[in-house]
Amino acid sequence: MTSFYLSKPYEPPQAPQNLPLNKPWALFGGISPDRFMKQYWQKKPLLVRGAIPAFRLATQNGECLDSPVSADTLIKLASEDGVESRLIKSNPWSFDAGPFSKKSLLELNNKNWTLLVQGMESHHSAAAKVLSWFRFIPDARLDDLMISIAGIGGGVGAHFDSYDVFLIQMSGRRQWQISAQKDLSLNPKLPLKILRNFKSEHEWVLEPGDMLYLPPHIAHDGVALDAGCQTWSVGFRSPSFKELLQEGLWRLAESLESIPELEQKFSDPLQKATAHAEQLPEELIEQIRLKLRDLKLDQIDRFLPGITAYLSEPKQQALFDGPIKPLSPSLFTKHLGSTKLLPSPQTRILSLGKEVFCNGENMSQGQSKGIARAWQTLSAKKVLLDRKLQNSPQSSLYQAYLAGWLIFEGSK
Ligand code: SIN
Ligand code: CO
Repeated sequence: MTSFYLSKPYEPPQAPQNLPLNKPWALFGGISPDRFMKQYWQKKPLLVRGAIPAFRLATQNGECLDSPVSADTLIKLASEDGVESRLIKSNPWSFDAGPFSKKSLLELNNKNWTLLVQGMESHHSAAAKVLSWFRFIPDARLDDLMISIAGIGGGVGAHFDSYDVFLIQMSGRRQWQISAQKDLSLNPKLPLKILRNFKSEHEWVLEPGDMLYLPPHIAHDGVALDAGCQTWSVGFRSPSFKELLQEGLWRLAESLESIPELEQKFSDPLQKATAHAEQLPEELIEQIRLKLRDLKLDQIDRFLPGITAYLSEPKQQALFDGPIKPLSPSLFTKHLGSTKLLPSPQTRILSLGKEVFCNGENMSQGQSKGIARAWQTLSAKKVLLDRKLQNSPQSSLYQAYLAGWLIFEGSK
């Protein structure tokens, strides 16, 4: 029997502000985020059939849901500067980085190609909504939502990621093979990071609405079975300790600029005559020890602001456009009473206790209590509506609006 399906774009819902962390979620096959984190996160893969029940329900009603992002939209995005995209062909393997001219991108009916577009949450509201489902995982861990679109046979080859990834099938079918193999050596002859010896241990065909969670270092290979196959990957980064400490330390070093007493020169009236002139003087070591203690530079709290600032930096490709006709400070305050202020889709906001960091900068430092509280709300809820805010032209909130880091709902 042949059935006739009218395909409709799936409209993902925005997750509620307060996520029910201990209730069963269809997204995880009927387990709660609490249980998902305990049993699977960073531990073992999870395959969820019908993670987005709307796809199955539509089929039962004789309808067909498709990805909310069309192939044309993805191809157009891949032709733009400031959008990170890659084109991978298999058989033989080749790799190119975007932007691509529209002509150089392949027809959907061609075989063995995949176009990958990163940071989709900044470019399409449906992707931003899907990302909101995962806000039970700390924002600091989030990398982005990538969409791959492929022709039949397309894939990026057998590989492993150092990321946790939720692979959501949004259009067409994809065959996944995975393995917990120890041998993660790469084939040195290929232009991509492809495993030398991939030995599949499990194999599934994912249909639209299915999801596969993979912790880091699980080898995997996904091959498109249908033209226009779309997989949405929600990826979670984990920085190395080297990166965290280096970034924290250099920002801490920079912050010493604002301590004038450190200009004071070391002096050693107590230095004794020494028979070991080649050695770094004990007197110098002791005074540095005291300075580190007095400035609390030997305590982790001094490193954390720098590390939070670093993790709140936007992606390298992020471009912020301020408003074309900016509101004056007083109109801005008035507007804030009736219109939601939101982070621009490329903005990252993180909190360290009550301190809030946005796009690499401390936004609460030196601000009034009201402004600091407004930032705390923005960081926690990712939205601000405030009828009573005492604003000033210099406030970091108004400045972030001028810079295009924060935007009023409906203004772009
Ligand atoms: C893909 O969507 O083709 C690749 C995603 C991944 O393997 O991480
Ligand atoms: Co991968």
